[in-house]
Amino acid sequence: MTDPVRIAITGAAGQICYSMLFRIASGGMFGPNQPVALQLLEIPQAMKVLEAVKMELDDCAFPLLAETICTDDPKTAFTNIDAALFVGAKPRGPGMERSDLLKDNGKIFSSLGKILNDVANPDVKVCVVGNPANTNAYILKANAPKLNPRNITALTRLDHNRAISQLAAKVGCGVPDIKKMVIWGNHSTTQVPDISYCQVAGKDASGLVDEAWAREEFIPTVAKRGGAVIAARGSSSAASAGNAVVDHMATWAMGTSDGDWTSMSVPSDGSYGIKEGLIYSFPVTCKGGGEWEIVQGLEVSDFIAGKMKESEAELLEEADAVKEMV
Ligand code: NAD
Ligand code: LMR
Repeated sequence: MTDPVRIAITGAAGQICYSMLFRIASGGMFGPNQPVALQLLEIPQAMKVLEAVKMELDDCAFPLLAETICTDDPKTAFTNIDAALFVGAKPRGPGMERSDLLKDNGKIFSSLGKILNDVANPDVKVCVVGNPANTNAYILKANAPKLNPRNITALTRLDHNRAISQLAAKVGCGVPDIKKMVIWGNHSTTQVPDISYCQVAGKDASGLVDEAWAREEFIPTVAKRGGAVIAARGSSSAASAGNAVVDHMATWAMGTSDGDWTSMSVPSDGSYGIKEGLIYSFPVTCKGGGEWEIVQGLEVSDFIAGKMKESEAELLEEADAVKEMV
Protein backbone atom coordinates (compact mmCIF):
# COMPACT_ATOMS: atom_id res chain seq x y z
CA MET A 1 0.00 0.00 0.00
CA THR A 2 1.22 3.55 -0.80
CA ASP A 3 2.59 5.41 2.25
CA PRO A 4 0.14 8.02 3.50
CA VAL A 5 0.82 11.73 3.07
CA ARG A 6 1.15 12.99 6.66
CA ILE A 7 -0.56 16.32 7.28
CA ALA A 8 -0.33 18.36 10.47
CA ILE A 9 -3.38 20.59 10.96
CA THR A 10 -3.61 23.19 13.72
CA GLY A 11 -6.90 24.48 15.07
CA ALA A 12 -8.42 21.11 14.19
CA ALA A 13 -11.45 21.48 16.46
CA GLY A 14 -12.44 24.80 14.90
CA GLN A 15 -14.99 25.85 12.29
CA ILE A 16 -12.83 25.64 9.16
CA CYS A 17 -11.49 22.23 10.06
CA TYR A 18 -14.95 20.86 10.72
CA SER A 19 -15.61 20.96 6.99
CA MET A 20 -12.04 20.66 5.69
CA LEU A 21 -10.90 17.50 7.49
CA PHE A 22 -13.63 15.39 5.92
CA ARG A 23 -12.72 16.64 2.44
CA ILE A 24 -9.05 15.77 3.00
CA ALA A 25 -9.88 12.35 4.43
CA SER A 26 -12.09 11.51 1.45
CA GLY A 27 -9.31 12.26 -1.06
CA GLY A 28 -10.19 15.84 -2.05
CA MET A 29 -6.70 17.20 -1.42
CA PHE A 30 -4.23 14.59 -2.65
CA GLY A 31 -6.42 12.54 -4.94
CA PRO A 32 -8.53 9.39 -4.83
CA ASN A 33 -5.57 6.97 -4.70
CA GLN A 34 -3.45 8.65 -2.04
CA PRO A 35 -3.89 7.61 1.61
CA VAL A 36 -3.56 10.39 4.18
CA ALA A 37 -2.69 10.52 7.88
CA LEU A 38 -3.98 13.45 9.93
CA GLN A 39 -1.90 14.82 12.83
CA LEU A 40 -4.36 17.15 14.51
CA LEU A 41 -3.21 19.85 16.93
CA GLU A 42 -5.35 21.76 19.41
CA ILE A 43 -4.94 23.68 22.62
CA PRO A 44 -5.64 21.61 25.79
CA GLN A 45 -9.07 23.24 26.37
CA ALA A 46 -10.28 22.05 22.94
CA MET A 47 -9.08 18.44 23.15
CA LYS A 48 -12.50 17.08 24.11
CA VAL A 49 -14.09 18.62 21.02
CA LEU A 50 -11.18 17.35 18.94
CA GLU A 51 -11.82 13.81 20.20
CA ALA A 52 -15.41 14.20 18.98
CA VAL A 53 -14.12 15.26 15.55
CA LYS A 54 -11.98 12.11 15.50
CA MET A 55 -15.03 10.01 16.43
CA GLU A 56 -16.86 11.42 13.42
CA LEU A 57 -13.86 10.86 11.14
CA ASP A 58 -13.74 7.24 12.35
CA ASP A 59 -17.47 6.89 11.77
CA CYS A 60 -17.07 7.85 8.11
CA ALA A 61 -14.84 4.76 7.56
CA PHE A 62 -12.90 6.65 4.89
CA PRO A 63 -10.87 4.10 2.91
CA LEU A 64 -8.01 6.61 2.42
CA LEU A 65 -7.67 7.68 6.06
CA ALA A 66 -4.71 5.66 7.35
CA GLU A 67 -4.39 7.29 10.79
CA THR A 68 -5.72 10.18 12.90
CA ILE A 69 -3.57 11.50 15.73
CA CYS A 70 -5.06 14.06 18.15
CA THR A 71 -2.61 15.97 20.30
CA ASP A 72 -1.98 19.20 22.18
CA ASP A 73 1.78 18.74 21.75
CA PRO A 74 3.09 20.58 18.66
CA LYS A 75 6.19 18.33 18.54
CA THR A 76 4.01 15.25 18.14
CA ALA A 77 1.87 17.01 15.53
CA PHE A 78 4.89 18.15 13.46
CA THR A 79 6.93 14.93 13.49
CA ASN A 80 7.28 13.02 10.16
CA ILE A 81 4.96 15.34 8.25
CA ASP A 82 4.86 16.14 4.55
CA ALA A 83 2.50 19.13 4.85
CA ALA A 84 1.29 21.51 7.57
CA LEU A 85 -1.91 23.54 7.50
CA PHE A 86 -1.84 26.37 10.04
CA VAL A 87 -5.48 27.12 10.69
CA GLY A 88 -5.44 27.54 14.49
CA ALA A 89 -5.80 31.24 15.35
CA LYS A 90 -8.49 33.66 16.49
CA PRO A 91 -10.96 34.74 13.81
CA ARG A 92 -12.09 38.38 13.57
CA GLY A 93 -15.58 39.49 14.49
CA PRO A 94 -17.83 42.20 13.03
CA GLY A 95 -16.17 45.61 12.71
CA MET A 96 -12.60 44.28 12.98
CA GLU A 97 -9.85 44.25 10.34
CA ARG A 98 -7.75 41.07 10.00
CA SER A 99 -4.65 43.01 11.07
CA ASP A 100 -6.35 43.66 14.46
CA LEU A 101 -5.59 39.98 15.16
CA LEU A 102 -1.85 40.37 14.70
CA LYS A 103 -0.81 40.87 18.31
CA ASP A 104 -2.64 37.74 19.54
CA ASN A 105 -2.19 35.48 16.55
CA GLY A 106 1.39 36.48 15.68
CA LYS A 107 2.63 34.84 18.90
CA ILE A 108 1.13 31.50 17.83
CA PHE A 109 3.14 31.59 14.61
CA SER A 110 6.45 32.52 16.24
CA SER A 111 6.19 29.73 18.82
CA LEU A 112 4.87 27.06 16.43
CA GLY A 113 7.42 28.15 13.78
CA LYS A 114 10.28 27.42 16.18
CA ILE A 115 8.93 23.96 16.98
CA LEU A 116 8.35 23.22 13.29
CA ASN A 117 11.96 24.24 12.69
CA ASP A 118 13.18 21.81 15.36
CA VAL A 119 11.21 18.71 14.45
CA ALA A 120 9.85 18.89 10.89
CA ASN A 121 11.33 17.68 7.62
CA PRO A 122 12.92 20.85 6.09
CA ASP A 123 10.97 20.23 2.87
CA VAL A 124 7.55 20.30 4.58
CA LYS A 125 4.93 22.22 2.55
CA VAL A 126 3.17 24.88 4.63
CA CYS A 127 -0.08 26.75 4.06
CA VAL A 128 -0.96 29.47 6.58
CA VAL A 129 -4.67 30.18 6.93
CA GLY A 130 -4.99 31.87 10.35
CA ASN A 131 -5.31 35.64 9.97
CA PRO A 132 -3.67 37.90 9.14
CA ALA A 133 -2.42 35.02 7.00
CA ASN A 134 0.35 36.72 5.02
CA THR A 135 2.07 38.26 8.01
CA ASN A 136 1.59 35.13 10.13
CA ALA A 137 3.38 33.21 7.35
CA TYR A 138 6.10 35.87 7.36
CA ILE A 139 6.54 35.36 11.13
CA LEU A 140 6.56 31.58 10.75
CA LYS A 141 9.17 31.76 7.97
CA ALA A 142 11.47 33.90 10.12
CA ASN A 143 11.17 31.49 13.04
CA ALA A 144 11.78 28.37 10.94
CA PRO A 145 15.05 29.11 9.10
CA LYS A 146 15.80 25.41 8.43
CA LEU A 147 12.73 25.10 6.24
CA ASN A 148 12.87 25.80 2.52
CA PRO A 149 11.31 29.31 2.45
CA ARG A 150 9.68 28.58 -0.92
CA ASN A 151 7.50 26.06 0.89
CA ILE A 152 5.98 28.66 3.22
CA THR A 153 2.80 29.94 1.62
CA ALA A 154 -0.40 31.69 2.73
CA LEU A 155 -3.94 31.29 1.49
CA THR A 156 -5.32 33.69 -1.11
CA ARG A 157 -7.09 30.94 -3.03
CA LEU A 158 -10.34 31.88 -1.30
CA ASP A 159 -10.06 35.37 -2.82
CA HIS A 160 -9.16 33.84 -6.20
CA ASN A 161 -12.24 31.58 -6.08
CA ARG A 162 -14.44 34.49 -4.98
CA ALA A 163 -13.15 36.56 -7.91
CA ILE A 164 -13.89 33.80 -10.42
CA SER A 165 -17.37 33.34 -9.02
CA GLN A 166 -18.15 37.08 -9.24
CA LEU A 167 -16.91 37.35 -12.82
CA ALA A 168 -18.78 34.19 -13.90
CA ALA A 169 -22.01 35.62 -12.46
CA LYS A 170 -21.44 38.97 -14.20
CA VAL A 171 -20.78 37.58 -17.69
CA GLY A 172 -23.16 34.62 -17.33
CA CYS A 173 -20.62 31.87 -17.99
CA GLY A 174 -19.61 28.73 -16.12
CA VAL A 175 -16.75 28.79 -13.63
CA PRO A 176 -14.60 26.44 -15.79
CA ASP A 177 -14.76 28.97 -18.65
CA ILE A 178 -12.68 31.45 -16.66
CA LYS A 179 -8.87 31.27 -16.78
CA LYS A 180 -6.04 33.48 -15.57
CA MET A 181 -7.64 35.33 -12.67
CA VAL A 182 -5.15 37.15 -10.44
CA ILE A 183 -5.16 38.20 -6.80
CA TRP A 184 -2.18 40.45 -6.02
CA GLY A 185 -1.08 41.43 -2.53
CA ASN A 186 -2.32 40.83 0.99
CA HIS A 187 -5.32 38.74 2.11
CA SER A 188 -6.98 41.93 3.35
CA THR A 189 -9.14 44.71 1.96
CA THR A 190 -6.06 46.09 0.12
CA GLN A 191 -5.83 42.94 -2.03
CA VAL A 192 -6.01 43.52 -5.78
CA PRO A 193 -8.35 41.20 -7.68
CA ASP A 194 -7.31 41.74 -11.31
CA ILE A 195 -9.15 40.61 -14.45
CA SER A 196 -6.63 42.18 -16.88
CA TYR A 197 -5.42 38.80 -18.21
CA CYS A 198 -8.64 36.82 -17.69
CA GLN A 199 -10.02 34.75 -20.49
CA VAL A 200 -13.70 33.85 -20.59
CA ALA A 201 -14.19 30.86 -22.89
CA GLY A 202 -11.16 32.07 -24.86
CA LYS A 203 -12.22 35.76 -25.05
CA ASP A 204 -10.61 38.63 -23.15
CA ALA A 205 -12.71 39.41 -20.08
CA SER A 206 -11.83 43.09 -20.44
CA GLY A 207 -13.90 43.16 -23.65
CA LEU A 208 -16.95 41.66 -21.88
CA VAL A 209 -17.24 43.94 -18.83
CA ASP A 210 -16.67 47.65 -18.56
CA GLU A 211 -13.77 49.09 -16.64
CA ALA A 212 -16.03 50.95 -14.19
CA TRP A 213 -17.56 47.62 -13.09
CA ALA A 214 -14.11 46.07 -12.62
CA ARG A 215 -12.85 49.02 -10.57
CA GLU A 216 -15.93 50.06 -8.61
CA GLU A 217 -17.83 46.81 -8.07
CA PHE A 218 -15.68 43.77 -8.73
CA ILE A 219 -12.56 44.77 -6.77
CA PRO A 220 -14.36 45.99 -3.61
CA THR A 221 -16.85 43.09 -3.63
CA VAL A 222 -14.07 40.49 -3.70
CA ALA A 223 -11.81 42.38 -1.29
CA LYS A 224 -14.61 42.88 1.25
CA ARG A 225 -16.28 39.49 0.85
CA GLY A 226 -14.84 38.10 4.10
CA GLY A 227 -16.43 41.01 5.99
CA ALA A 228 -19.75 40.52 4.16
CA VAL A 229 -19.82 36.85 5.22
CA ILE A 230 -19.10 37.84 8.83
CA ALA A 231 -21.90 40.42 8.73
CA ALA A 232 -24.35 37.84 7.39
CA ARG A 233 -23.24 34.80 9.37
CA GLY A 234 -22.02 36.36 12.60
CA SER A 235 -18.75 34.46 12.25
CA SER A 236 -16.13 34.16 9.58
CA SER A 237 -16.26 32.03 6.45
CA ALA A 238 -15.53 28.41 7.21
CA ALA A 239 -16.67 25.94 4.52
CA SER A 240 -15.47 28.13 1.64
CA ALA A 241 -12.17 28.69 3.46
CA GLY A 242 -11.72 24.95 4.00
CA ASN A 243 -12.53 24.38 0.32
CA ALA A 244 -9.91 26.95 -0.68
CA VAL A 245 -7.24 25.21 1.44
CA VAL A 246 -8.09 21.93 -0.31
CA ASP A 247 -7.76 23.69 -3.69
CA HIS A 248 -4.49 25.43 -2.71
CA MET A 249 -2.77 22.22 -1.62
CA ALA A 250 -4.20 20.11 -4.47
CA THR A 251 -3.01 22.60 -7.10
CA TRP A 252 0.40 22.91 -5.44
CA ALA A 253 0.81 19.11 -5.34
CA MET A 254 -0.73 18.23 -8.70
CA GLY A 255 -0.10 21.33 -10.81
CA THR A 256 -2.03 24.10 -12.54
CA SER A 257 -3.78 23.15 -15.78
CA ASP A 258 -2.37 24.16 -19.17
CA GLY A 259 -3.21 27.74 -20.09
CA ASP A 260 -4.10 28.68 -16.53
CA TRP A 261 -2.52 29.66 -13.24
CA THR A 262 -3.63 30.14 -9.64
CA SER A 263 -3.10 32.82 -6.97
CA MET A 264 -0.91 31.93 -4.01
CA SER A 265 0.77 34.05 -1.38
CA VAL A 266 4.46 33.12 -1.58
CA PRO A 267 7.73 34.75 -0.50
CA SER A 268 8.42 37.56 -2.94
CA ASP A 269 11.66 37.28 -4.94
CA GLY A 270 11.34 40.93 -6.00
CA SER A 271 9.05 40.14 -8.96
CA TYR A 272 6.89 43.10 -10.05
CA GLY A 273 8.95 45.34 -7.73
CA ILE A 274 7.53 43.79 -4.52
CA LYS A 275 9.97 43.76 -1.63
CA GLU A 276 11.82 40.47 -1.39
CA GLY A 277 10.78 38.25 1.51
CA LEU A 278 7.24 39.61 1.99
CA ILE A 279 4.55 36.95 1.68
CA TYR A 280 2.61 38.43 -1.23
CA SER A 281 -0.06 36.97 -3.50
CA PHE A 282 1.04 36.51 -7.11
CA PRO A 283 -0.20 34.56 -10.12
CA VAL A 284 1.66 31.28 -9.86
CA THR A 285 2.02 28.17 -12.00
CA CYS A 286 2.61 24.81 -10.32
CA LYS A 287 4.21 21.90 -12.12
CA GLY A 288 3.29 19.22 -9.61
CA GLY A 289 5.54 17.74 -6.96
CA GLY A 290 5.58 21.01 -5.00
CA GLU A 291 7.28 23.24 -7.60
CA TRP A 292 5.84 26.69 -8.29
CA GLU A 293 6.88 29.77 -10.29
CA ILE A 294 5.58 33.32 -10.23
CA VAL A 295 4.17 34.15 -13.68
CA GLN A 296 6.59 36.67 -15.20
CA GLY A 297 6.26 39.41 -17.77
CA LEU A 298 2.64 40.48 -17.28
CA GLU A 299 1.97 44.05 -18.33
CA VAL A 300 0.48 45.81 -15.29
CA SER A 301 -1.64 48.94 -15.75
CA ASP A 302 -0.81 52.07 -13.73
CA PHE A 303 -4.09 51.69 -11.83
CA ILE A 304 -3.34 48.10 -10.76
CA ALA A 305 0.34 48.89 -10.08
CA GLY A 306 -0.72 51.68 -7.69
CA LYS A 307 -3.02 49.32 -5.81
CA MET A 308 -0.31 46.62 -5.68
CA LYS A 309 1.99 49.15 -4.01
CA GLU A 310 -0.73 50.03 -1.44
CA SER A 311 -1.06 46.37 -0.52
CA GLU A 312 2.74 46.03 -0.31
CA ALA A 313 2.82 49.11 1.96
CA GLU A 314 0.27 47.48 4.26
CA LEU A 315 2.39 44.31 4.46
CA LEU A 316 5.48 46.39 5.22
CA GLU A 317 3.57 48.11 8.04
CA GLU A 318 2.45 44.74 9.41
CA ALA A 319 6.04 43.45 9.18
CA ASP A 320 7.18 46.49 11.14
CA ALA A 321 4.52 45.87 13.81
CA VAL A 322 5.86 42.33 14.40
CA LYS A 323 9.55 43.06 14.14
CA GLU A 324 10.18 41.71 17.63
CA MET A 325 8.77 38.33 16.55
CA VAL A 326 10.93 37.82 13.45
P1 NAD B 1 -12.26 28.86 15.13
O1 NAD B 1 -12.19 29.80 16.28
O2 NAD B 1 -13.52 28.15 14.83
O3 NAD B 1 -11.12 27.76 15.30
C1 NAD B 1 -9.81 28.08 15.63
C2 NAD B 1 -9.24 26.92 16.42
O4 NAD B 1 -7.86 27.17 16.63
C3 NAD B 1 -9.89 26.77 17.82
O5 NAD B 1 -10.41 25.46 17.93
C4 NAD B 1 -8.74 27.04 18.78
O6 NAD B 1 -8.82 26.23 19.95
C5 NAD B 1 -7.53 26.66 17.91
N1 NAD B 1 -6.26 27.23 18.33
C6 NAD B 1 -6.03 28.46 18.87
N2 NAD B 1 -4.72 28.59 19.16
C7 NAD B 1 -4.11 27.45 18.79
C8 NAD B 1 -2.77 26.98 18.86
N3 NAD B 1 -1.80 27.72 19.37
N4 NAD B 1 -2.50 25.74 18.40
C9 NAD B 1 -3.48 24.96 17.90
N5 NAD B 1 -4.78 25.34 17.82
C10 NAD B 1 -5.08 26.58 18.25
O7 NAD B 1 -11.74 29.68 13.84
P2 NAD B 1 -11.89 29.30 12.30
O8 NAD B 1 -13.17 29.83 11.79
O9 NAD B 1 -11.55 27.86 12.08
O10 NAD B 1 -10.73 30.25 11.68
C11 NAD B 1 -9.39 30.02 11.97
C12 NAD B 1 -8.54 31.15 11.41
O11 NAD B 1 -8.60 31.15 9.98
C13 NAD B 1 -8.93 32.55 11.85
O12 NAD B 1 -7.78 33.32 12.13
C14 NAD B 1 -9.65 33.10 10.63
O13 NAD B 1 -9.64 34.51 10.60
C15 NAD B 1 -8.81 32.51 9.53
N6 NAD B 1 -9.39 32.48 8.18
C16 NAD B 1 -8.57 32.70 7.14
C17 NAD B 1 -9.04 32.66 5.85
C18 NAD B 1 -8.14 32.91 4.67
O14 NAD B 1 -8.64 32.96 3.54
N7 NAD B 1 -6.84 33.07 4.84
C19 NAD B 1 -10.41 32.37 5.63
C20 NAD B 1 -11.24 32.14 6.72
C21 NAD B 1 -10.72 32.20 8.01
C1 LMR C 1 -12.24 35.56 4.84
O1 LMR C 1 -11.74 36.18 3.93
O2 LMR C 1 -13.42 35.11 4.78
C2 LMR C 1 -11.44 35.28 6.09
O3 LMR C 1 -10.19 35.87 6.03
C3 LMR C 1 -12.17 35.63 7.34
C4 LMR C 1 -12.23 37.11 7.56
O4 LMR C 1 -11.85 37.59 8.64
O5 LMR C 1 -12.68 37.82 6.64
